[in-house]
Amino acid sequence: MSGPEGGEPVSGPEGGEPVSGPGATGAWDTGTAGWWQREFTDGVDPEYTEQILPLIAGELRGCATILDVGAGEGQVARVLSAAGSNVVGIDPIDAQIHEAQRRAGGPQYVQAPAASMPFASESMDGAVACLVFEHIDDVDEAIAEVARVLKPGGRFLFLLNHPLLQTPGSGWIDDQIIEPPEQYWRVGPYLTEAATIEEVQKDVFIRFVHRPLSRYLNALADAGLMLEHMHEPAPPEGFLAQAREFRDAATIPRLLALRCGKLLT
Ligand SMILES: C[S@@+](CC[C@H](N)C(=O)[O-])C[C@H]1O[C@@H](n2cnc3c(N)ncnc32)[C@H](O)[C@@H]1O
Repeated sequence: MSGPEGGEPVSGPEGGEPVSGPGATGAWDTGTAGWWQREFTDGVDPEYTEQILPLIAGELRGCATILDVGAGEGQVARVLSAAGSNVVGIDPIDAQIHEAQRRAGGPQYVQAPAASMPFASESMDGAVACLVFEHIDDVDEAIAEVARVLKPGGRFLFLLNHPLLQTPGSGWIDDQIIEPPEQYWRVGPYLTEAATIEEVQKDVFIRFVHRPLSRYLNALADAGLMLEHMHEPAPPEGFLAQAREFRDAATIPRLLALRCGKLLT
């Protein structure tokens, strides 16, 4: 996740360091795809194995056809396919699509961005976007595309680094200077919609767009995707065991998952 990409998925108590400079555009490419595949897929990341993948499988159970937006190397798509759904994943990055096809496991893949999907309207029973919209600039167009391809009554599961609690500049503060000492979670600038480029690992730069939660919920509502259920899970035990600095902050969620239903009319 952002910083949990620090692992990605979610910005750590310290978050990634904002950077700028020649070459550090933060765009997804072969290098960032390789970092993602190594650090967060194939069972190596406990947030995925213990929390994200089971949550997605549970929320989309029973959908005959599912679209995975920003599928990456396909870990979400494979789990949904193994559960019996007919899954198609899209991603604009060649290195992700290529690896997804190599890892196989049932889903089909198409190289495309979220804002322009080559699928018929009202063709999918379910859709999922897992830690993707933080990397998308044209958010309204992308959400409108999800709504377009879903059947009326279809389900959209939308997972984000928690937009309130994992803003750039957020983190666990252990202040031993004041008396008595205080520990608290600091929230960074929340209302400002802003892009930052973080060096998530040496020489690996990723661009994240922060938006307030209302920006997402209103874009979903405008597209006819209405909130049905919201998850703010505590970080899973396997993650806390690896990232001991998070243990004190374990009551602060790193992940937000929204299940939305497409209006019938
Ligand atoms: C953090 S990875 C998540 C991959 C996958 N959803 C998962 O959970 O394993 C973010 C993905 O978003 C993709 N992405 C970036 N810009 C995108 C866009 N405009 N439309 C769709 N996907 C995009 C990247 O190529 C990358 O594979």
